[in-house]
Amino acid sequence: MRTTPTPEDLQRFLEIATEAALAGGAVLQRYWGNLSSIQEKGRSGDLVTEADRASEVAVLAVIKRHLPDHAILAEESGQLGHSDNPLLWAIDPLDGTTNYAHQYPLCAVSIGLLVAGKPMVGVVYNPILQDLYRAAKGLGATHNRQSIQVSKATQLSNSLLVTGFAYDRRETIDNNYAEFCHFTHLTQGVRRGGSASIDLAHVASGCLDGYWERGLSPWDLAAGVVLVEEAGGQVSAYNGDPFDIYSGRLVATNGALHQPIVHELSQVQPLPQFKPT
Ligand code: IPD
Ligand code: CA
Ligand code: CA
Repeated sequence: MRTTPTPEDLQRFLEIATEAALAGGAVLQRYWGNLSSIQEKGRSGDLVTEADRASEVAVLAVIKRHLPDHAILAEESGQLGHSDNPLLWAIDPLDGTTNYAHQYPLCAVSIGLLVAGKPMVGVVYNPILQDLYRAAKGLGATHNRQSIQVSKATQLSNSLLVTGFAYDRRETIDNNYAEFCHFTHLTQGVRRGGSASIDLAHVASGCLDGYWERGLSPWDLAAGVVLVEEAGGQVSAYNGDPFDIYSGRLVATNGALHQPIVHELSQVQPLPQFKPT
């Protein structure tokens, strides 16, 4: 098998990822408002439902049927298949489980293809609002089949950002609270969407200007990173170094605001550990 996919390969993988995302999304539509089981995984606040599991079964069935040789890393099933294959699908069958459990309609199926660790195909599908975001390396990014671009904001003071707080926020001082306060003062606002893949899709489509977060997994990021890059944006580590999908943290912006956000992140001092009484 070739290590570098051709544009034709990428187009085919994009169609397969779309079929898989729609299959997972149909499951999420069915369970919406009808959950009988909501459980906590290891950490406080980290929920899993029967909808997460059933969506993953539907997504995996499509990927395995079309691409039985590819490796898979799926949130609920872990690593599957041919681990020596450089083509690895990173799958989140329900990104935004907390939102979904509360019927807050920001949630998605997120399906990304990594080629030797680099995100090259991404589909993020919100089945509740019926928003389909797609991108592949060199082929551009779309929202509901219309081409999208990142925003044109050039000043932090005119920007709207988004971030999130990892499930270990109660146990670590590296909980993003100081960063959240810092950027809230410098910008027109900072949103907490609750679905990393949708946060990235919103940077790609230009309604948000930048995003940073830590404590994430490859399945949260793989698809959204392709969307941002193909929409003309920029993705890096917090310090501006090249993005590493296994580091769990990133900055993703419209490009113009990338350096200012990286600079401001370097200025933030952690707040003392917050303990509600
Ligand atoms: C979570 C969401 C959330 C982010 C968390 C993720 P999940 O994914 O993407 O926005 O802040 O760190 O784990 O658990 O709903 O799939
Ligand atoms: Ca997730
Ligand atoms: Ca999930």
